[in-house]
Amino acid sequence: MPGESEGTFRTPTLRGVALTAPYTHAGQLKTLKEVVQFYNDGGAADSFSGTKDPLIVPLNLTEQEVDDLVAFMESLTGDPVPEALTQDISKP
Ligand code: HEM
Repeated sequence: MPGESEGTFRTPTLRGVALTAPYTHAGQLKTLKEVVQFYNDGGAADSFSGTKDPLIVPLNLTEQEVDDLVAFMESLTGDPVPEALTQDISKP
């Protein structure tokens, strides 16, 4: 039996996702389109018995819907965060 947290992943932010290829924890998906196709196929096979949520099923998205989702994710990238806001000022 796998441990309770085996096969679980934190859900990453989609902010700026157009700039962070390759995707997923092992970087095996090279483009956002590959990611959407992965979900459209119902995700990967369940390699940890019982850990794949039954809600993860093929989505039957059309090619247009796949492209629309990619365009949406590409819209989640704005200007870079100003340098001044990336400084850690929590310590003196
Ligand atoms: C069509 C719907 C979805 C789209 C377009 C989408 C998009 C994405 C993208 C682009 C990534 C890669 C992020 C990166 O590597 O920086 C990702 C990863 C991830 N997503 Fe989704 N997502 C969808 C549905 C879901 C759902 C339903 C869940 C959870 C119930 C989920 C949970 C996750 C998790 C845990 C990861 C990290 C996987 C890993 O690192 O291997 N996503 N998703």
